[in-house]
Amino acid sequence: MPRILVNNRNALRGRVEVSGSKNAVLPLLAATLLTDETCVLDGVPNLKDVDVMCSLLRFFGAEVKAEPAASRIEVRAGTIRTTVAEWDLVKAMRASIVAMGPLLARTGQAGIPLPGGCAIGERPIDLHLKGFSALGAEIHCDKDESGDVLVSASASRLIGAEVYLDFASVGATENIMMAAALAEGTTVIENPAQEPEIVDLANFLNRMGAHIRGAGTDNIRIEGVSRLHGAEHSVIPDRIEAATFMLAAAITRGDVLIENMLPNHVVPVIAKLKECGVRIEEDYSGLRVDASKNDFRATNIKTLPYPGFPTDVQPQFMAFLATVPGRSTVIETVFENRFMHIRELNLMHAEITEDGRRAAIKGGAKLTGAHVRATDLRAGAALVLAGLVAEGTTVVSDIFHIDRGYEDFVGKLAGLGAGIVRTEPGPGDEK
Ligand code: EPZ
Repeated sequence: MPRILVNNRNALRGRVEVSGSKNAVLPLLAATLLTDETCVLDGVPNLKDVDVMCSLLRFFGAEVKAEPAASRIEVRAGTIRTTVAEWDLVKAMRASIVAMGPLLARTGQAGIPLPGGCAIGERPIDLHLKGFSALGAEIHCDKDESGDVLVSASASRLIGAEVYLDFASVGATENIMMAAALAEGTTVIENPAQEPEIVDLANFLNRMGAHIRGAGTDNIRIEGVSRLHGAEHSVIPDRIEAATFMLAAAITRGDVLIENMLPNHVVPVIAKLKECGVRIEEDYSGLRVDASKNDFRATNIKTLPYPGFPTDVQPQFMAFLATVPGRSTVIETVFENRFMHIRELNLMHAEITEDGRRAAIKGGAKLTGAHVRATDLRAGAALVLAGLVAEGTTVVSDIFHIDRGYEDFVGKLAGLGAGIVRTEPGPGDEK
């Protein structure tokens, strides 16, 4: 299995360009199922999750022309051959669930095995199903002999409705918005997710002829239309990748210019790094993170749905706080099991204790290199960041998690001066 080896070389310096957003492009690709015309996406990141979504679209019958070198994907879902997703693809990526809304809207049918994705806790889909049934769909959950569950929805036609989301779920908001785009009448989503990826999806759907207002606010209104046409769209930059590089600069006490990013998408991360004493300047092309003065103070973070502090930056920020003298706390409110990186960071001699959704960090300890395992996408990134400052070599395994969501992570960090390589361990290496 490939691994990432990290050495504590020096403070990161230079400039790095952010790729297109994984969490925007996946629903955008799913949205192409809503029309039989050609859609073109630019600024697409070259990621494993994008490959999985393209395979899923092809499985449904779409023609997909991916040009990774040009960061461009063309999709024409001229005919939908099947409406039940392929098990292995869905098991590989939870985000496959967002194909359900478009399939239901386009064909009146959608079937999907309960998704796998990363193992950050129980990932229910009750809010997705609540939205579909509010729009008039019939929902069935059938358990097969192996205990796997196939969830299916069917509706001769979808009728606009009011839907309240008990939690501002990103995926549920995306699924309901896409299903409602072709429903008869008006749909209102109360307490929707307000992430920038929701706004990007609404912009793309409106380019396709939908009538969606209020994306990015606490109330989204969708006037259903009879059909949608093809459209072109550029994917927004990946705010989580941008935040990860902000923290790479901070943890190594470096000075890095992060380009092709939108500072207003990472306001809580900027605010929290400034609270710690990191200098951050908005530059004409992005954000400059100058952590060279290195007399930082501890702080506390609490993850919340957007515009609160992003849960997808929690592991990376925790790694940084482990190097900041003083006591910090991290409270994770979005997922019930997103602290698996604590055990791995403590193998590197961080001093972090956890109690339910709260972690206490005694910062300032000297981190030391160790063999650690990426338990999910952002935890993997956090371990690489910790390796950048740990004494000795850190070996990160299970890096397929990282490949799902970061384009050329090793190359971009090496370009900033990091001592980092990707290796394929030989037959003699310990597993
Ligand atoms: C999206 O996942 C992102 N993934 C996640 O990013 C991100 O962490 C998450 O939103 C929160 O911001 C993509 O966009 C592809 P949710 P999603 O539905 O849609 C509960 C990354 O690292 N919930 O907002 O799956 C759920 O259990 C990934 O890039 C229900 O209870 O997240 C969780 O506790 C990780 N019922 C919370 O809501 C539902 O029907 C947030 O889930 C749906 C969700």
